[in-house]
Amino acid sequence: MTLTEIIDSFKSKLNVSKLVDSLERKASFYEESENGADENGSVGDLKYNPYFNSGNSDANNSNGGKISQNKDEPLIKLINVWKIYQMGEVEFAALKGINLEIYEGEFLIILGPSGSGKSTMMNLLGCLDMPSKGTVCLNSKDISELDESELAIIRGKMIGFIFQSFNLLPTLNTEENVLLPMEFQEEDRKIAREKASYLLDIVGLSNKKGNLPSQLSGGQRQRVAIARSLAVNPPIILADEPTGNLDSKTGDYILDFLDGLHQRDGKTIIIVTHDVELLRYATRVVYIRDGEIEKIETRPKNEPDMKNERGTKNEENRS
Ligand SMILES: Nc1ncnc2c1ncn2[C@@H]1O[C@H](COP(=O)(O)OP(=O)(O)OP(=O)(O)O)[C@@H](O)[C@H]1O
Ligand SMILES: [Mg+2]
Repeated sequence: MTLTEIIDSFKSKLNVSKLVDSLERKASFYEESENGADENGSVGDLKYNPYFNSGNSDANNSNGGKISQNKDEPLIKLINVWKIYQMGEVEFAALKGINLEIYEGEFLIILGPSGSGKSTMMNLLGCLDMPSKGTVCLNSKDISELDESELAIIRGKMIGFIFQSFNLLPTLNTEENVLLPMEFQEEDRKIAREKASYLLDIVGLSNKKGNLPSQLSGGQRQRVAIARSLAVNPPIILADEPTGNLDSKTGDYILDFLDGLHQRDGKTIIIVTHDVELLRYATRVVYIRDGEIEKIETRPKNEPDMKNERGTKNEENRS
């Protein structure tokens, strides 16, 4: 498969209008509004909805954020993957022979204690790093066969990253950080600014557009990173401890939001965390310890006992 074919197979299925639908439903979290959408697609205080007005008819005609041609083929496949870090004379195996298939439309949680290899695995899933041994395939293509510019295109168009360290550029303000991925996509500058404005409304940071990352709280930085990760409407979202710096209300909101992208738009969500409270969102959980997969658990989504995991815990705490 050529790179163009890979990208086309991702691109052809993006569904921007459904993303907007889920964004709008969630907009009321921070911006409570009694107003419904008008004929121009604006909702409440969100004056202009760039996703409806970008003229991207291709995106609007597509079907649900789906990516691969063949649903039976895994979207991402790790085959006997090792990651060995070299520190002078000393070697450390952070991942030891990982075998994992991730399918389109999954809400996958990789759960493990600190130091177990979660972020290392995330870097491989996101084509940010190469394995020391073994193979990582994206849409049946071995990523080690792609050159850096091809990988950059895949990372830029297909994957939204919510990093543990946020990776916000310190010299850019909130708005510029969200604009950055769109610059790489050669988006029209005016539309890009409107999209950034829309996304910052969604995450409740319209009033912090001019702040540098150093002038934001940890949770606000996390939300800038989330807005940025959605800027190019990627079909795959990789999140490393997305709620790590957030209070529980904001954390729940962010997870509900990602859940909406999964359930309504069919996006593939992959989260690494040590927080068992997030498990209620997962369709599958990969337990990792000391660089190895301990077990994999399929979870019927939205089963009452799973949905109430936090509630049950709270009940326990109260009694
Ligand atoms: N560049 C590196 N060089 C050497 N060792 C590393 C490097 N990066 C990570 N490690 C080691 O690899 C192991 C896995 O690290 P990783 O960051 O993947 O853990 P994690 O599961 O994400 O932990 P946390 O929950 O604390 O973020 C750790 O023992 C870490 O010290
Ligand atoms: Mg980590």
